[in-house]
Amino acid sequence: MNPRLGVNIDHVATLRQARAGHEPEPAAAALLAQSAGADGITVHLRGDRRHIQERDLHVLKEVLAVPLNVECAATSEAMAAVIPVMPAWVTLVPESREELTTQGGLDAVFLQGMLRGILRELRAAGIRTSLFLDPVLDQIKMAAKLEADAVELNTGIYADLPADADAGPEVVRLQEAARLAARLGLRVLAGHGLNVQNVGPVAAIPEMEELNIGHSIIGRAVLVGLERAVTEMREAIARSRA
Ligand code: PXP
Repeated sequence: MNPRLGVNIDHVATLRQARAGHEPEPAAAALLAQSAGADGITVHLRGDRRHIQERDLHVLKEVLAVPLNVECAATSEAMAAVIPVMPAWVTLVPESREELTTQGGLDAVFLQGMLRGILRELRAAGIRTSLFLDPVLDQIKMAAKLEADAVELNTGIYADLPADADAGPEVVRLQEAARLAARLGLRVLAGHGLNVQNVGPVAAIPEMEELNIGHSIIGRAVLVGLERAVTEMREAIARSRA
């Protein structure tokens, strides 16, 4: 079976926040993605609220038929915002204010004490849990020890390889991490930097259950939708003189 596709709509909210207004509405984008076949919707509630807002979580939870996955930092501030929404999944990610996007996976080995408490809190609320990890075997083992439900393997290093580099070793790291995670009873997801050119080898990993993809889909949507948006505006202008 093909991996499921989780569509990350953060950058619809990025565009909205550029004017701090109401458009484009992330929930409208989520519904379009859902009707186009997205198996889930992912959003990242960042501490600095640079794109997704708490209000978006509530609206998405209300309108979506597919599962909502909220990525957030492993902090009590994030838990206070996310748990009341009761998304199907919470994915814990590392976060720093300076980064443009998530840089690398969580260090679950180093953070195990803190993660144990947060995972327990999420489990008690009935929310399934995923840890965003680099494809490093010790990290995967720790995710199993902490009783996370899933790991999301960071494909960022693979995706950022120069076009002329041999991607083989990075693909092998992802394959080995996926195999171990599945053997330890974890569900296996992956994401970060995936696009139509590089998704193939990751989607082909037999244990891969779901891919979370955002930037490339939203970036492409802006381009393929532009002709129609210009046409609609020309028609609106023309109607004024009709
Ligand atoms: N998975 C995680 C944990 C992420 O932080 C992100 C980016 O927010 C993605 C997947 C999606 O990455 P991209 O937008 O590069 O497709």
